[in-house]
Amino acid sequence: MEILRTIDSVRQWVRAQRGRPIHFVPTMGYFHEGHLSLMRRARADGGAVIVSIFVNPLQFGPNEDLARYPRDFERDRQMAESVGVEAIFCPTVEEMYPAGYQTEVCVKKLSQLLCGRSRPGHFEGVATVVLKLFHIVTPDRAYFGMKDYQQLRIIQQLTRDMNLPIEIVPCPIVREADGLAMSSRNVYLTPDERAAATVLYRSLQWAQAQYAAGERDAARLRTGVHEQIAAEPLARIDYVAVVDAETLQPIERLERPTLVALAVFFGAARLIDNCLLEG
Ligand code: PAJ
Repeated sequence: MEILRTIDSVRQWVRAQRGRPIHFVPTMGYFHEGHLSLMRRARADGGAVIVSIFVNPLQFGPNEDLARYPRDFERDRQMAESVGVEAIFCPTVEEMYPAGYQTEVCVKKLSQLLCGRSRPGHFEGVATVVLKLFHIVTPDRAYFGMKDYQQLRIIQQLTRDMNLPIEIVPCPIVREADGLAMSSRNVYLTPDERAAATVLYRSLQWAQAQYAAGERDAARLRTGVHEQIAAEPLARIDYVAVVDAETLQPIERLERPTLVALAVFFGAARLIDNCLLEG
């Protein structure tokens, strides 16, 4: 497997693939089964798989966890190799943002909602780094997890708006045995917080059951999920929202594909999760 640290070396690697489809998985590293599921899918789709590992400073707020974001390159390298990844692009911050760098990309409406409200600038940082990575790697397909549903929607919109010849492939959420969505940030949880965090998936499952039983009132679903999480003493709710799955705008009645999305603090960790209600 190739370890590529410069933009030039990625371009050379891509040329050396001689027209094989390039399948790309952007990440910030500290891999878990969620990341690996994207890499396995990229490989099963039959391309040369390249993964980026870059903890992107542009998408972290001043009081967020950039400095303590977990990192373990050697472990990541082995895990990526074990699922057939052919190259890892792991640039330095200077390589991506050299002195004098000043351009930012903004997907205007989608970036201001949900997580964008509590993390100003976050999605501009995501859109900027992903557009740069797309230009560097020039993939045919790029794989994104539905765990970060708003991020996925923003990348889909960016790709459409900027006419990028890239197929964005959404991948299902991978969960621990007790339902907690896998996340590199789960390592921040104390054992008590880890146990308490299972309320998130339970509340989403409740919403799914209500929907299956015919519930179509958004406020009742939102209130039910909110109450279940609020009853957990270690949880501090950032938001619980029931929104249109495409526009991410709040709705009153569930008439089109709907997203139940939430962000909740447990101690130092801000966890997100969601589920789609459709059909
Ligand atoms: P990161 O949090 O490392 O996630 C990389 C990819 O893995 C994202 O597409 C994310 O949705 C997916 N992922 C994470 N946990 C998952 C889970 N439990 N199940 C399925 N997929 C999961 O997202 C980022 O990095 C960054 O914002 C990035 C897009 C790389 C831009 O910096």
